[in-house]
Amino acid sequence: MAANKQILVLPGDGVGPEVMREVRRIIDWMARRRRVAFDVTEDLVGGASIDQRGVPITPEVVQRAKAADAVLFGSVGGPRWDKLGFDMRPEISILTLRRELGLFANLRPAIVLEPLVDASTLKPDVVRGLDLMIVRESTGGIYFGEPRGVETLPDGQRRAFNTESYSTHEIERVARVGFDLARKRQNRLCSVEKANVMESGLLWRQVVTALHEREYSDVQLTHMYADNCAMQLVRNPKQFDVIVTTNLFGDLLSDLASMLTGSLGMLPSATLGAPDAGGRRHALYEPIHGSAPDIAGKGIANPIGQMLSLAMLLRYSFDMEEDAALIERACTNVLASGLRTADVMGPGTAKVGTSVMGESVMRELEKLSA
Ligand code: NAD
Ligand code: IPM
Ligand code: MN
Repeated sequence: MAANKQILVLPGDGVGPEVMREVRRIIDWMARRRRVAFDVTEDLVGGASIDQRGVPITPEVVQRAKAADAVLFGSVGGPRWDKLGFDMRPEISILTLRRELGLFANLRPAIVLEPLVDASTLKPDVVRGLDLMIVRESTGGIYFGEPRGVETLPDGQRRAFNTESYSTHEIERVARVGFDLARKRQNRLCSVEKANVMESGLLWRQVVTALHEREYSDVQLTHMYADNCAMQLVRNPKQFDVIVTTNLFGDLLSDLASMLTGSLGMLPSATLGAPDAGGRRHALYEPIHGSAPDIAGKGIANPIGQMLSLAMLLRYSFDMEEDAALIERACTNVLASGLRTADVMGPGTAKVGTSVMGESVMRELEKLSA
């Protein structure tokens, strides 16, 4: 019999462990009711790891992440650790995992669920039916470029600097992910950079254009400057199918896109590496939100972004489309029944906390699979 699938769960800090608790219940339920067996191990990252082990992530945890079939990540960071040295920040843990596992393609879908059309701060007609995929490059660009640092100038002033850098290979491999996804969707890819002011942006545009001509001329390709893209996402988000963009622009544009769907708490993500010869690829799944220190400990965080991250894990790493769709349907049905966490509350809906939301999704899963 094949070995059980290995999932490494890294809840992290703040609301991370709160929303992860609800997802663990879904995983246990799946083992019981759907007869799928996972070996789930849990470990420390971020501030939780700093507190107990003195570092944001230990080499052992990185090894465990490499050995796992998939990593389910919560969120890291918080004001308690903000005064630590730059290399000791909790956020180093997620950056280390992305880099060490070669997770270069961060898929961030922004899908407006019908029950939440009114939860967006934009007009219902602008967002209804939106299904957008942002592919964010996630191991390069200004997050990792060298040189970087802080220096003291002769006149005593300090100067801090970072480098935006992209190679042909880095651009090509993430653009391929964008083109391939577009082919399975509406066949439209918008590549986003600032080729008008940055050399790295110009190279990005040239490489994407050449790849398009060479291998993907059947896909409808457009280019857009990142500032215009931010504006277009608010003006008319449905013009987009798949967006492929750099690390930093993707970080900003995906937070922006989350508000089209109602809340930052709704958005899941998958971060994928390149498949090896046997087709196996490293993969990490996390909601796009952070540790939300302003609401942590209150039991009111929206667990749906984390739940939908589990659905993405089942779909992309384990090829369990039916189970992924079941979780997505359960979340949608619970929202349709009028239960809402505070971040997506609207008139005529009932406010519930994280654990009631979790229980309701569990009940819905039972019902759907009865
Ligand atoms: P944040 O995403 O934590 O929160 C931004 C706003 O969204 C807050 O008002 C918060 O309450 C709300 N929000 C976030 N998740 C929510 C949820 N599930 N339900 C309801 N509301 C939710 O961003 P921030 O405040 O800028 O950052 C806080 C900390 O998190 C920082 O240390 C930051 O570095 C870190 N961070 C970590 C990750 C990650 O681990 N992947 C991602 C983003 C930010
Ligand atoms: C995200 C976060 C991270 C990022 C931080 C915590 C390093 O904002 O996953 O969107 O900037 O990539
Ligand atoms: Mn972010």
